[in-house]
Amino acid sequence: KYAYFHNSMKNSFTAPGKIILFGEHAVVYGKPAIAIPVSGMRASAWSEPGEGKLTINALDLNQKIGLENKTSQFSVLAQTLLSKTKQSEPNLTINLTSKLPQGSGMGSSAATSTAVCKALSNYLGVDLEKNQISELVFDAEKIVHGTPSGIDNTVVAYESPVYFVKGQEPVTFDSGRTFYLVIGDTGIESSTKETVGNVRDLLDKDPNLMNGYFDEIENVTEGGKKAIEDGDKEAVGELMNKNHELLNKIGVGHRELEKLVDVSLDAGALGAKLTGGGGGGNMVALAGSAKEQKEICEKITEAGYRAYQTTFGED
Ligand code: MEV
Repeated sequence: KYAYFHNSMKNSFTAPGKIILFGEHAVVYGKPAIAIPVSGMRASAWSEPGEGKLTINALDLNQKIGLENKTSQFSVLAQTLLSKTKQSEPNLTINLTSKLPQGSGMGSSAATSTAVCKALSNYLGVDLEKNQISELVFDAEKIVHGTPSGIDNTVVAYESPVYFVKGQEPVTFDSGRTFYLVIGDTGIESSTKETVGNVRDLLDKDPNLMNGYFDEIENVTEGGKKAIEDGDKEAVGELMNKNHELLNKIGVGHRELEKLVDVSLDAGALGAKLTGGGGGGNMVALAGSAKEQKEICEKITEAGYRAYQTTFGED
């Protein structure tokens, strides 16, 4: 099942962040969602000879993680890969760093796991297919996220826009035009495990109400896919606003997110919504043009927040 090749220690391996455009949280309950990679913000991993064992050297966290640490996404990932390929623990240090803010909804955990997975598999001489990377990272995501849908590892491992339904092969789709996005960071770290847990509690308390919201989110996501394919930016923006309202209704909003959404809309965004787990983290705004994208980005920065520009659907 696994292909092998001659390894090298020279390369650095990277993986992108991600943004969910439509359908987060509902995707945990079998509804579709749409996500895009953010190729300009990445996690990087590179190997060097070890100190007698396998160590993941998480430079940003100033943490060295070994296989004995059963609660780390990286040790789970490494152990699974070693077991599946029937290899013993290598004498290797994998250095890891990431430009993605943690707990921000940009897929930092999936990106870091993917970068480590690529570096380790390269050292082991294992040629992994994208779906194999995605599966390995999914196992590691369970440590961080509890009951992940699998969308983060999928979009990060495939590095292409995806229409995703849990348990199904991811579907890629074409965009009718280039879309200009601005990502605004509340700076508030938020745990996806917690927000997913809170949504589950509300679902247990009032299944009718919550399933109704999930159905509405599904309609928004289906409409969003069509609007992206048609290149209808106004429709995409409206649906993002609608998705944001619904995310507030299922309890994953935050007042800082509202502030950033308002700043973006006042600056001329066609739509804006929280993205990912919510409860803090990031929001994403759609701009009508590259010029408007820059303006929205500046307004968010002036309001005292970090902002990034990204695009998708380039020819
Ligand atoms: C997190 O990026 C997206 C959520 O829908 C959780 C998941 O799909 O696993 C909130």
